[in-house]
Amino acid sequence: MLKVVDVSKNFGGLQALDHIQLHLEQNRIYGLIGPNGAGKTTLFNLVTGLLPVSGGSIQFQDEELTSLPPHQIARLGIARTFQNIRLFPTMSVLENVLVAQNIHTQSGIPSLFQFKGQREKKLREEAEALLQQMGLWEKHGELSSDLAYGEQRRLEIARALALQPTLLLLDEPAGGMNEAETEELLDRIQEIRNTGKTIFLIEHDMSVVMGICDYIYVLNFGKLIAQGTPEKIQANEAVIEAYLGREER
Ligand SMILES: Nc1ncnc2c1ncn2[C@@H]1O[C@H](COP(=O)(O)OP(=O)(O)OP(=O)(O)O)[C@@H](O)[C@H]1O
Ligand SMILES: [Mg+2]
Repeated sequence: MLKVVDVSKNFGGLQALDHIQLHLEQNRIYGLIGPNGAGKTTLFNLVTGLLPVSGGSIQFQDEELTSLPPHQIARLGIARTFQNIRLFPTMSVLENVLVAQNIHTQSGIPSLFQFKGQREKKLREEAEALLQQMGLWEKHGELSSDLAYGEQRRLEIARALALQPTLLLLDEPAGGMNEAETEELLDRIQEIRNTGKTIFLIEHDMSVVMGICDYIYVLNFGKLIAQGTPEKIQANEAVIEAYLGREER
């Protein structure tokens, strides 16, 4: 569903990504790992159109993405969360999801306005279902800034799901979570996959990556140095050298 073909990204003299190739298929969980500054977030920024590529092509369900603005890419079915949480802090949990739904509803047929009441009811029901799915319905009236950190991360996922994506990009979803929160998050990510979506996640916590990913890509200094199943990656010398072994030294 997503093909990244020969993609490069330069920031001035820095080559943040160097001829990257990726191929994601539907209904799977992919991991993207690598040391700090490897280019992981930059790759997400290119796929979602926040930054232009310096070279190469990105195709999603046979549409070329590299010339599209972010909102059109989102409409094609790609949603993301951010490494630094981006919620509306002065809105309630429910409102944060309701505003995210707008991307599809505003393009709706204008004559539907006489059914506004019904439509709003349906959107509210959908938002409730998403908050239930992410375990946040009990908090729907609270300000998003009053949520615990792990809950804010889950709310960001609910917001992303409100865009009805087929591909969900998660940038360090377990960042700052404790072990119990992380465990719960893993269950929820698997549930999302089971609804037919593809998930591509950046994560430093190896228990997360190895535990739920079907396939892993490894970046180091902008280069793809390895790819494969968790078992293969854990045994890969270049990966151990660049990343996994780092903590033991
Ligand atoms: N908008 C930008 N302008 C200039 N340089 C950038 C920009 N975004 C990223 N970089 C640089 O590109 C490199 C890759 O950064 P990126 O954020 O993609 O790394 P990362 O793998 O996500 O790292 P981390 O694990 O720390 O989040 C870094 O050297 C970073 O400083
Ligand atoms: Mg990053």
